[in-house]
Amino acid sequence: MQRPEKHRIRSAFDRAAASYDAAAVLQRAVCARLLALRPEASSATPHILDAGCGTGYGARLLRERWPQARISAADFAASMVARTAADGIDCVLADIEALPFRPACFDGYWSSLTVQWCDNRRVLAEAARVLKPNGWLALSTLGEDTYRELRSAFAGIDRHQHTLDFSAADQLADAAHAARLQQVSLHRETITLHYPDLRSLLGAVKAIGANALGPGRRSGMMGKAAWAALSSAYEQHRTAAGLPASYDVILLSGHK
Ligand SMILES: C[S@@+](CC[C@H](N)C(=O)[O-])C[C@H]1O[C@@H](n2cnc3c(N)ncnc32)[C@H](O)[C@@H]1O
Repeated sequence: MQRPEKHRIRSAFDRAAASYDAAAVLQRAVCARLLALRPEASSATPHILDAGCGTGYGARLLRERWPQARISAADFAASMVARTAADGIDCVLADIEALPFRPACFDGYWSSLTVQWCDNRRVLAEAARVLKPNGWLALSTLGEDTYRELRSAFAGIDRHQHTLDFSAADQLADAAHAARLQQVSLHRETITLHYPDLRSLLGAVKAIGANALGPGRRSGMMGKAAWAALSSAYEQHRTAAGLPASYDVILLSGHK
């Protein structure tokens, strides 16, 4: 699996912090589903980590759900950390593949729509390391059917890579088992968002910073003819609701 270089991912998210919240429709919908999966907190004052917190939407949800909890957050983009910290959440600048926390210090580990940018195995091994025995994990990511319309529209245009190389759901489950997590359960759901046109669809992806791509990416701007061909290929997918973008959402829960 090829991943974009980390500095590219980090810079795209760093640039997107200001536009993120207005465009994060999918992210809010996925956080709501992830929260619905959570059992009651295992202790009266649980310590919960939001790993890859972005602007802190998930951390705020956790704070509302468990007002007595201590919430910590981590993200590797400095402007995202600044936004989360501005809300009074204890937030550190860190890579979730190598967390700066001692072993067994969290009752809960939450990570929403971040792991698709990471090495699953490293993230889940780190989650297991920082969780207390019997601590819970709730994680969402995107599976391989994500952006299927975009890939199909590009198929006739060029051979470059235009979307992330998303993991298969069973690879994620394997990574959770390799990290020795227990009671691992996977849920999968397609969420489809609609846009008036291709420009607004691609603009929304960029506004949340999810536009860093892998080594096979196209460099430079697209020519007029290629853009027209792409728009017309994407139009084949139009429905009454607009141009669809499908997200293959995977929710994973488990315990240490
Ligand atoms: C799509 S946003 C999701 C943010 C938030 N969880 C939400 O649901 O709104 C992905 C976030 O993960 C962060 N991120 C990606 N890879 C990371 C890594 N290896 N370590 C820490 N943060 C990472 C990005 O900086 C970005 O803020």
